[in-house]
Amino acid sequence: MGSEEIEGLLEEIKSFQASSAAEVEEFRVRFLGKKGVLRELFAQLKEADASSKKELGQLINQVKESAEQKIAALKNAGIEEGSLIDVLDLTLPGVAQNLGTRHPISIIKNRMCEIFEKIGFNISEGPEIETDWYNFTALNIPEDHPARDMQDTFFLQTNPDILLRTHTSPQQIRVMESTKPPIRIICPGRVYRNETISARAHCIFHQIEGLYIDENVSFADLKQTLFHFTKEMFGKETKTRFRPSYFPFTEPSAEMDISCLICKGKGCSVCKNSGWVEILGCGMVDPAVLENCNIDSTKYSGFAFGLGVERPAMLTYRINDIRLFFENDIRFLKQFQSA
Ligand code: DAH
Repeated sequence: MGSEEIEGLLEEIKSFQASSAAEVEEFRVRFLGKKGVLRELFAQLKEADASSKKELGQLINQVKESAEQKIAALKNAGIEEGSLIDVLDLTLPGVAQNLGTRHPISIIKNRMCEIFEKIGFNISEGPEIETDWYNFTALNIPEDHPARDMQDTFFLQTNPDILLRTHTSPQQIRVMESTKPPIRIICPGRVYRNETISARAHCIFHQIEGLYIDENVSFADLKQTLFHFTKEMFGKETKTRFRPSYFPFTEPSAEMDISCLICKGKGCSVCKNSGWVEILGCGMVDPAVLENCNIDSTKYSGFAFGLGVERPAMLTYRINDIRLFFENDIRFLKQFQSA
């Protein structure tokens, strides 16, 4: 056996390709098997001239190494016994990929935002971790004000000046501080309150804040904007009503109810037999809040509202337990299609 022949074997090993585990095994037996090429080569080496022994020995070792490496590489590539390649039946139907769907809260939130965007509101998102100033003080809720108890707050233990925002209203302040009127924004986002979790309440939920500041903005503008929103969102036949309320950052303040989408106002367990469901708080921005943001309250006025997302989502999809939104159970989530 000469070195040329061995070079030929090396070439053969290098170019070898296999498409099944059986072919790899055949290759292994041919080179490394008991009666294989290498056995034969080592036997011949014993007989070789002393002068060429060293060179031949090195070449034969190369053959052994490259054959072993080739087999390992083919096995790594998945061509080994029982591998996919051997059982692959290309005529079988494919495995369907599960397509993700939008979360029901996102679907409803997007729909709500779209209605306001179409009438000229811009989206402005703010941080979920807020300071006392933005979440309370600038909104006319000074320290020791009983209105702070309206919202059970998660404070940072080491620095009670920092908290998880309890509503989306702080974003009003951030925008008013940095923008000259006219301002027309909606601020969708997640808010946090230290509430006991039940079928009707959760410590995490979503709101959409609205703010409109310009010269001569009146309560009539607020009402018309919200009437328009309600008809677009819940249907033309949906009725609305305003009830006087109190919020420190608006004066006058109101809450708005819509006729229950489930019983159409006749009374059911969802609306606690009243026929009405509350969906938002609103009012004319208190001049003190405008002044906190250096906006001249003698020149400008405006309205604000804070719209919940979970309740309309529950009404729209007939969901009776708010916790379902946050459990991320795929059997629940895949029932919603974004239109
Ligand atoms: N921030 C209030 C809350 O979470 C909701 C609200 C009420 C927002 C009246 C407003 C408003 O902008 O004008 O309870």
